[in-house]
Amino acid sequence: MAIINSLAATDNIFFSSLIEHVYQYGWVFLPQFLTPELNAALLHEAQYEADLTLAGIGRSNAHQLNMQIRRDATKWFDGQSSAQQNYLQLMAKLQQALNRQCFLGLFDFECHFARYQQGDFYKKHLDAFKGRTNRVLTTVSYLNTVKQGGQLALYDEKDTLIKTITPTAGSLLLFESERFPHEVLPAQDPRFSIAGWFRKNANINGVLDPAN
Ligand code: OGA
Ligand code: MN
Repeated sequence: MAIINSLAATDNIFFSSLIEHVYQYGWVFLPQFLTPELNAALLHEAQYEADLTLAGIGRSNAHQLNMQIRRDATKWFDGQSSAQQNYLQLMAKLQQALNRQCFLGLFDFECHFARYQQGDFYKKHLDAFKGRTNRVLTTVSYLNTVKQGGQLALYDEKDTLIKTITPTAGSLLLFESERFPHEVLPAQDPRFSIAGWFRKNANINGVLDPAN
């Protein structure tokens, strides 16, 4: 079972056991990753301060198509607030531990806040396609506990459902971006999270480090 229950994110041993799980299963769910303080600060920012917007506002075909696939509102981190800085520091520590233990060659982490309101969803997708992006690991930090809807369904390479995760405040989901299709089921309660990606410095089609 790729779920770790009992350690705090500050322990070195926490990172090693987390990484062992990722190595073995390709994914892990940590019910307690963020401290309540950091969680509260990030949630406050996502709810009241960050200006979250639908990806690609407008009437273009691309936007219409996008709305069939996902309905969340997002805001990329700009690193301005101390809550964001603390979160990025934590992820930098995790990146360092992953590189030491697994030689993954991660060089970068990017993330955005996301808000799903009633009826919002994100259809089943992969975050990376083999050889086409430099996203290696996906992270999702859940900032509030939802009572109804908004679960994350995680599938394996054969499209078999592995796990349905109910977002709870302070938890983290981590999985290999190329391996696991996943979807966000229609939300009932407001749902706040931070979706992020550890990336490697890949030279794709002669372009160094493209954005996606
Ligand atoms: C994503 C995504 C999952 C979630 O943003 O790519 O799949 O649980 N998010 O929010
Ligand atoms: Mn995704």
